Amino acid sequence: MVGVIVSAFGDFVGLKCSAAAQEALADKLGGQRVIATQNYPDEMVLAIIAEVASADGKGLEQILEEFGYDFVRWAQPRYKVFFASPSARDFLLGMTVAHQSVRSFNLEAAPPAFRYEQPSSDELVMIYDSPRKLCSLMRGLIAGVADHYGERVAIREPSCQKRGGKECRFELKFSH
Ligand code: HEM
Repeated sequence: MVGVIVSAFGDFVGLKCSAAAQEALADKLGGQRVIATQNYPDEMVLAIIAEVASADGKGLEQILEEFGYDFVRWAQPRYKVFFASPSARDFLLGMTVAHQSVRSFNLEAAPPAFRYEQPSSDELVMIYDSPRKLCSLMRGLIAGVADHYGERVAIREPSCQKRGGKECRFELKFSH
């Protein structure tokens, strides 16, 4: 996972988590400076997040969802171009292409490639299939994007990799 995600997580912990969680993060990083463009092993990043979650009295899935939600606020001033989309649905539809740009600065990055279905103009299906199984992060991100646009989104996930599904299927319905 590229360092920019670790940095964003550090900022999230600093702003939204307890002193114990902040201490756990500092312990895990051991004074190491995180470099945004460098690749960090997924196991290491997930171990850090799990440790911080437990210091904060939360489960891994809960903290991933909260981090995903907060990430949208964090990303907005830094990745303005993605936020040019006129609606949450359009923003999410652009996410496969947007994530490909990560590879322009890090060839080891393995950003997600979503498949989409568009059943109607206020619905979107996002299909996520990744060995990282970060579907809780997805949930938070989707909610954060909808909030950013002042929209409401109903999320159904009838198939989930964590529940033995081949992929996570996010069925989204937007309303204003
Ligand atoms: C401006 C907004 C966003 C930026 C700048 C961004 C950037 C990134 C970056 C740099 C990574 C790490 C890739 C890697 O190390 O291989 C990542 C991972 C990821 N992003 Fe985003 N992202 C954004 C929004 C979103 C949204 C809205 C979603 C979904 C709703 C999403 C879903 C994910 C997932 C699931 C991963 C983990 C990769 C995996 O599971 O294989 N991201 N993103």
